[in-house]
Amino acid sequence: MDLNRKKAINLLREYNEEDFHILHGITVGRVMEYFAKEINEDIEYWGIVGLLHDIDFEKYPEEHCVKAVEILRSNDYDNEFINSVISHGYQICSNVEPKKYMEKILYSVDELTGIINAASLMRPSKSYQDMNLKSIKKKFKDKSFAKGCSRETIKNGADMLEIEIDILLDKTLNALKEKEKIINEEYNVIVDHI
Ligand SMILES: [Fe+2]
Ligand SMILES: [Fe+2]
Repeated sequence: MDLNRKKAINLLREYNEEDFHILHGITVGRVMEYFAKEINEDIEYWGIVGLLHDIDFEKYPEEHCVKAVEILRSNDYDNEFINSVISHGYQICSNVEPKKYMEKILYSVDELTGIINAASLMRPSKSYQDMNLKSIKKKFKDKSFAKGCSRETIKNGADMLEIEIDILLDKTLNALKEKEKIINEEYNVIVDHI
């Protein structure tokens, strides 16, 4: 399998036109890199799994995690990679359970980055840098805020990871703070070229 970020970005662009989906893929992937680094895992691999996890969602929302298999297979991603990608839709659009630590992180941060991103956009700075755990906890508890982001899934993710929900929130916020610059830079380059 040719694991190459440039190739993965080209594939993301091929299947996604909406800026939101491109930003989401980059964000989830970059946050996963933070968690990979923490335990000395393969940073690039985790980042690309995250980048491509919703590859089929914009074009095939009804077949999410089904079309992904086809798309990724025809682009030479191997079964292990594909399984990790579709495990994020466990019990929603796939029956592949997140088993590896990396898959559990993907499952957890997918929805959680959505809440934190929405919260950042409410702030004058539009940035993660001046956010703290307390404000994230408040948004997490407020079910009407970013209500498309499933709190249940995030809680399940923390259970799978066997960590307290507050630890997951805190680490994910730290990951976004650390990766904000690179997320924005990469996003701007991609969007400018569409
Ligand atoms: Fe998804
Ligand atoms: Fe997603």
